[in-house]
Amino acid sequence: MGTEKDTRTNYFNIFNDKKPIVVRRCSIEDLEGVIEVNEKELPEDYPYFFYKSILDNYPESFQVACNSNGKIIGYIMWRVERSPAINSLKLMNKGHLVSIAVLKSYRRSGIAATLLLNSMKKLKKYKIDEFVLEVRVSNYVAISLYKKFNFTTHNIKEKYYRDGENAYYMTLKA
Ligand code: ACO
Ligand code: ZN
Repeated sequence: MGTEKDTRTNYFNIFNDKKPIVVRRCSIEDLEGVIEVNEKELPEDYPYFFYKSILDNYPESFQVACNSNGKIIGYIMWRVERSPAINSLKLMNKGHLVSIAVLKSYRRSGIAATLLLNSMKKLKKYKIDEFVLEVRVSNYVAISLYKKFNFTTHNIKEKYYRDGENAYYMTLKA
């Protein structure tokens, strides 16, 4: 749909009083800012090439939120996996939420919800059957966000995190 320009730069604004926040596709120049947000807000850190390979392979659904100075204040990234459906040999395309975070001072104004909504729309281009994610069982805030999007808990992955915490494996039909 639309011109090449439309699909490459999907801008829209959340007007949060005087400060416009822009949500758009991530570019290679944004990766440093994305890594900064990740290192501040999440214990799971990844090497640069990991972010780069997600951006190279699944650019449509790698989205960032920027403040009015162009600083990256949030991001979301997904990968697409082809694996068997539960109880069937049929292969399914799963959109796997790799990571989402928003800087503390920008939270609670709908930025994560916008990142999710926008990127899930974009993921449909990869012919997704299901969206999936893991989240720490103690991460009440993120679990609330996913429930708001109708994700349900499929099962618990025991000791999923390096510190031994369990994860909820949550899924949503696309
Ligand atoms: N308490 C309860 N529910 C909350 C809270 C909160 N403090 N914050 C957000 N939510 C839920 C609510 O359902 C909210 O909807 P509502 O405002 O209509 O009630 C919904 O999330 C959307 O809120 P947003 O304002 O869009 O969320 P925000 O921009 O604040 O970002 C996020 C949420 C990304 C979870 C943020 O708190 C964060 O960066 N946390 C640290 C990183 C993290 O935990 N990421 C998820 C890890 S799991 C993974 O990446 C697969
Ligand atoms: Zn995962």
